[in-house]
Amino acid sequence: MKIIAIANQKGGVGKTATSVNLAAGLASKGYKTLLIDLDSQRNATNTLIPPETITTTLADVLVGDNNRQPLENAIYETPIDNLDLVPAHIRLAKIERFIEIEEQFRLKDGINNLTDYDLVILDCPPTLGMTLTQALLASHYVIVPIAADYYSHEGVIDLNESLQKARRGNPQLQILGYVMTRYDSRMRVAKESLQLTQDKYQELAFSSVIRELAAIKTAPAMRLTVYEYDPSGDGSADYTAFTEEVVTRLELENTANKGIHLVEQTSAKKRKAS
Ligand SMILES: Nc1ncnc2c1ncn2[C@@H]1O[C@H](COP(=O)(O)OP(=O)(O)OP(=O)(O)O)[C@@H](O)[C@H]1O
Ligand SMILES: [Mg+2]
Repeated sequence: MKIIAIANQKGGVGKTATSVNLAAGLASKGYKTLLIDLDSQRNATNTLIPPETITTTLADVLVGDNNRQPLENAIYETPIDNLDLVPAHIRLAKIERFIEIEEQFRLKDGINNLTDYDLVILDCPPTLGMTLTQALLASHYVIVPIAADYYSHEGVIDLNESLQKARRGNPQLQILGYVMTRYDSRMRVAKESLQLTQDKYQELAFSSVIRELAAIKTAPAMRLTVYEYDPSGDGSADYTAFTEEVVTRLELENTANKGIHLVEQTSAKKRKAS
């Protein structure tokens, strides 16, 4: 099982769009994938599950001292084959207060008890707080979406500080790559931002770029991934290419570091949305 955080504390850069469409893309390739929504705004949750079906959320797993639920109890099937989701809740914002060391590892411990998944994707909130810390302590890799816009690179410096801190408790944490999102080739700033991303991050910059497209923006309002909303469109093409690049990088990492194949035998056990 590989755990990937999609993180950038800058708001609106495409973390959720990337989390949802990467997770769905990986699932369509046959990987058993779990998407965990760590953002109390619940955007990923609302895209994939009708709110009225949700009874247990990540907040019931992470928040409070007594009567917390195991992570398994907060897993819901989505309409997409091979893709399950752990929904967020507004109460997740409570994690942002100072927490004890033990509490910082609640997410990690919860995920490590799961056996059914090849890949876990964490949609992180747009803050540098305790929720992000828990995500970084739980992850093997981080993917950083960067919007092709003014000041898009400034926030990454702060994220790097968080990564350095998280490595004290999670030394294996690596950046899998930086992905340019919301790219509009008609804008000079977008081209400059892309050039800067490639110059700065070199081979860590994904070669696939996610364009600014109406289909990517509209799909969540229809509670759909971009593949379902516009199967033959540019948004599907961009996220399919990106998904393939992610798989290639993960496989390279596995071969280089561990000599094991990414896809492990899994027993399918799913919880129906109740
Ligand atoms: N490639 C894209 N093309 C067009 N619109 C996009 C694209 N990516 C994201 N958006 C839209 O931009 C807004 C912000 O995107 P998204 O929610 O994915 O960002 P985020 O980083 O998760 O935001 P937050 O920091 O609030 O969690 C949303 O309305 C989304 O639909
Ligand atoms: Mg988001």
